[in-house]
Amino acid sequence: MTVTASGVTRTFQHDNGPVEVLRGVDLSVSPGEFVTVSGRSGSGKSALFSILCGFDQPDSGSVLICGEPVVSPPPWQRCAVLPQALGLAGELTVAENVALPLRLNRPRPSEAAVTDRVADLLGRLGIGTLGDRYPNEISYGQQQRAALARALSGGPAVLLADEPTAHLDHDSIGPVLRLLRDAAEEGATVLVATHHDEVHERADRTLALAGGRIVAA
Ligand SMILES: Nc1ncnc2c1ncn2[C@@H]1O[C@H](COP(=O)(O)OP(=O)(O)OP(=O)(O)O)[C@@H](O)[C@H]1O
Ligand SMILES: [Mg+2]
Repeated sequence: MTVTASGVTRTFQHDNGPVEVLRGVDLSVSPGEFVTVSGRSGSGKSALFSILCGFDQPDSGSVLICGEPVVSPPPWQRCAVLPQALGLAGELTVAENVALPLRLNRPRPSEAAVTDRVADLLGRLGIGTLGDRYPNEISYGQQQRAALARALSGGPAVLLADEPTAHLDHDSIGPVLRLLRDAAEEGATVLVATHHDEVHERADRTLALAGGRIVAA
């Protein structure tokens, strides 16, 4: 599913006046591509991602996923979102969180298949022993990997991940990058906002956000 943004603008109102954060963002990411978005803190990466996944509306411009206007909430089993704030369900264990998208898949996978997929993802991300814990019983970096596992478990066609490695050490970033690359190689459209050079280096290309627009990286 191709993700396309055309002329996306977004202005936030503050006490001391309006702040134009996005001034006409154009981008297109194709199935099988792993694309990163760079930009200084406050440049509008998260604001853009919120619009791409339908959580927020642009003031003008449009977002199309597979040629159709983006809807909110996105159809989770097709379009997975990893927000900067993670959004794990606190009343569910890590394993139950990761299993959620799988339970929406049709045909419905067997319990054994769900258990295997969850264990595989958690194991690959180095948190295989944490499945029975609740999100508030693990570190933030571990929560971040659990949220990525949840985003990927259902085999989404689109993955929008906002700083998926922000709280990870160098050794923990490698497995995350391998999963992101694998998802793209299996045909997913993968768009990742990040400050980490090693994430940009593994991407097919990088889009730089500056001054509210995509500029040459
Ligand atoms: N809901 C909001 N209301 C008002 N202002 C907002 C809102 N969301 C973001 N902003 C402002 O928009 C600008 C862009 O914020 P955004 O979170 O998109 O930056 P970012 O590039 O993701 O930064 P970081 O790298 O720190 O995550 C900032 O100036 C921020 O203060
Ligand atoms: Mg951000």
